[in-house]
Amino acid sequence: MSKRFTITAALPYTNGPIHIGHLAGVYIPADIYARFLRLQGHDVAFICGSDEHGVPITLKAKKEGVTPQDIVDRYHANIKTSFDDFGISFDNYSRTSAKNHHETASEFFKTLYDKGEFIEETTAQLYDDEANQFLADRFVVGTCPKCGNEESYGDQCEACGTTHNATDLINPKSAITGATPSLKETKHWFLPLDKHESFLKEWILDGHKSDWKPNVYGQCKSWIEDGLRPRAVTRDLDWGIPVPVESGDGKVLYVWFDAPIGYISSTKEWAQRNGKDWEPYWKDKDTTLVHFIGKDNIVFHCIIFPAMLKAEGSYILPENVPANEFLNLEGQKLSTSKNWAVWLPEYLKDFPEKQDVLRYVLTATAPETKDTDFTWKEFQARNNNELVAIFGNFINRVLVLTQKYYEGSVPSPNAFFEIDTETLEKVNAFPESLSKSIERYRFREASQELMNLARLGNKYLADEEPWKLIKTDPERVQTIMYVALQVSAALAIVSEPFLPTTSQKLKTMLQLPTHSWEAVEKGATLLEPAHQIGTAALLFAKIEDAEIEHQLEKLTQSKLENTLANKVVEPQKETVSFEDFSKLDLRVGTIISAEKMPKAKKLLELQVDTGIDVRTIISGIAESFTAESVVGKRVTVLVNLAPRALRGVESQGMILMTETPEGKLVFVNPDAAHPVANGLKIS
Ligand code: 2FM
Ligand code: ZN
Repeated sequence: MSKRFTITAALPYTNGPIHIGHLAGVYIPADIYARFLRLQGHDVAFICGSDEHGVPITLKAKKEGVTPQDIVDRYHANIKTSFDDFGISFDNYSRTSAKNHHETASEFFKTLYDKGEFIEETTAQLYDDEANQFLADRFVVGTCPKCGNEESYGDQCEACGTTHNATDLINPKSAITGATPSLKETKHWFLPLDKHESFLKEWILDGHKSDWKPNVYGQCKSWIEDGLRPRAVTRDLDWGIPVPVESGDGKVLYVWFDAPIGYISSTKEWAQRNGKDWEPYWKDKDTTLVHFIGKDNIVFHCIIFPAMLKAEGSYILPENVPANEFLNLEGQKLSTSKNWAVWLPEYLKDFPEKQDVLRYVLTATAPETKDTDFTWKEFQARNNNELVAIFGNFINRVLVLTQKYYEGSVPSPNAFFEIDTETLEKVNAFPESLSKSIERYRFREASQELMNLARLGNKYLADEEPWKLIKTDPERVQTIMYVALQVSAALAIVSEPFLPTTSQKLKTMLQLPTHSWEAVEKGATLLEPAHQIGTAALLFAKIEDAEIEHQLEKLTQSKLENTLANKVVEPQKETVSFEDFSKLDLRVGTIISAEKMPKAKKLLELQVDTGIDVRTIISGIAESFTAESVVGKRVTVLVNLAPRALRGVESQGMILMTETPEGKLVFVNPDAAHPVANGLKIS
C-alpha cells in the first residue's frame, strides 16, 4: 500500500562546501532511503535546503570583509550545484534566506507567542564591550561545564555533544575580539522545555526505546534525565529573521529555532511548484516523518523541534531520527576550518564519472553505530575489488556473452537444473532482505547485501562456465545465459537506491522494460526470451595507485598549508646595525667527524673543516640528528664567535640552523646542487 513520507536531510550551513563527512552522515543514507521508498511506489517528499543564518556565517563574513548575504549566496550556489552533480535526489532544495521561509518561521513564532508558549524574560547575557555586541552561540568560546573541553561554543560543546547556554561556560572569551565578556541585561523569549518534559519522556523514553538507534535514544535519555530547562529562542544579532513581535526590535530568531522550520517552508515551496497541498506532509497522522542528521544535531531534532511542533499543536512528530556518528579522514577528525576534508566539488572535478564509487564506499563504511575512518586506500580497494571485480565483471561477462552467442537477443531457457531454480529463488529473496536492512536504517548492511547479489551472479557463471559448454552443449548455455540475464536485470533494479548512475546505465544496456522492485520480489520474468539488449559498456573502471597518491599528496599539502597559516610567528628580534652585522664571519664548512657528548642529551661534538682550519664545535642538535648522520654535511659556520667551554670542551664557533615550516630542524646548507668551496665567506 502506498504511504506518504516526509524525509528531511539536515540543512547544511552555508559557510563552506559539502565534504565526505556530510555525505556519509546524512545525505547518502537519506538519498538511499528516499529512492528506496519511491521504488516501492510510496509518495515521498525528500526535503532539504541551505541553513543560512547563525553565527558561523557572520564570523566568516567578518573575516572576509564581505556581507553575510555574500557568503550565503556563494555557498548556497556551491552546495546546490554539488548535490545536483552528485545525484542527491531532493524533491526540493530551498534556502532559509528565502522570503517564504522568513514568513513561515515568523508565523510559527507568532503562533507560539499568541498561545503563550514562551516565557519572556530579561536576563544578564555575555557582552563584548570592545565589539559592542552580545555574545551568543559561536561568538563565544569557553570551558564546557560538563566535560571540561576548553573550546566549547556558547550553545554547544562539540566534544561531548551537550548543548548549553552561553552563560554556563567557564572562562568565556569573545570569538570576535578575544576579550573576556561582561554581563549585560537583555530581554529574550524562552521555550520552556521543562513544561514539555513529561510529553518528551513518554514519547521518546517509553515510545521509541526499541526503534530509535541506541546512540540517539541514549543522548535523549541523558538530556531528559539531566533535567530540561527553558531555552532562549531569540538572539541579539543583526543576521537572521527579525523577531516578529512588538519589542522584538533589533533581535532575531535563534538559528536553531528557524532552521528546522526550514523543512516546512521547503516543503511548501515544493508543493506550490507542483500544485500540491503541503499540509498533509506535515499534519496528517498517516504521514511518516523521518529526519536524517549527524550526531551533533540530535537534541535539536529530538527534543527542541518536537517541543516546538507539539506546542504549535497541529503538526506530526518524527517517527525516527536516524542520526549517524562522525566520519574521520585518514585517522583524523574532519575539519572545515583546518581544511582536513575531501570536498565534494573537488572530488567531482577529480573523479567526474565516479559518483557511485564514492556513494558505495561511504555507504559500506558509514559511521552508523560508531565513528569510522575514510581512507583513500580503502576507497581504491573497494572500487577495484568489489565494484570492478565483482559487480562490473559479472555484468560485463553476461552482456558480452549474450552479444557474442545470440547477437544481444535473450535466449529461451531449456530445462532448469536445480542450481538454476535455486539461483533464481535466491535472487527473488534479495528485495526482502534489502528492504529489511533499509527499513531499519542499516544502509551499510544493505550495501553489502547488494554486493552479495552480484557475488551470486558471479559465482553462478564461474560454476556453470558457459564459455566452456558453448561448443558441446549450446542448449544448456541458453538456460545459463537466460538465468544470468535475470540476475543482471534484478541487479539493475535493486541497485538504484545505492548506485543510481550505474543502475541507469545498466537498465539502458539491458533495455530493461520493467523497473519495479515488486517484479523482482514476485519472481517475474524481468527479461523475456527474444528481448533485444543493447551493447555492453564498462560500468566501473579500475583506480590506479597514481590517482590515490595524488589524493594523498593533496591532503599532505593542505595540512602543510594549514600548519603555515596557523603558525605563531615569533616576533623579530631587535634591529642590528650594518656595522654590527658585518662583524660576523660566516663561512661554508664540512663536518668531518661527530661524537655524542657523554651525559649531555642535546650536544654533539663536531670537527668542522672550515677551509681555514679544522675546529671543534659543540652543537645542541643531538635530539634531531645522530652523530653518524651529520658526518659529511656541508654547513654554514660562524667562525668568529668568542670561544666558550661546554662540559669542559672549548667550542670554537657555531653551526647555523633553521626550522622548516613543519618545525623540523635543518642545517643552513650551502645549496648542494652548487658546491661551494670550504672557507668561502658568506657576504
Ligand atoms: O549542523 C548543521 O549543519 C545545521 N545547519 C543543521 C541544521 S538542520 C535543520 F534543523 F535545519
Ligand atoms: Zn563538553
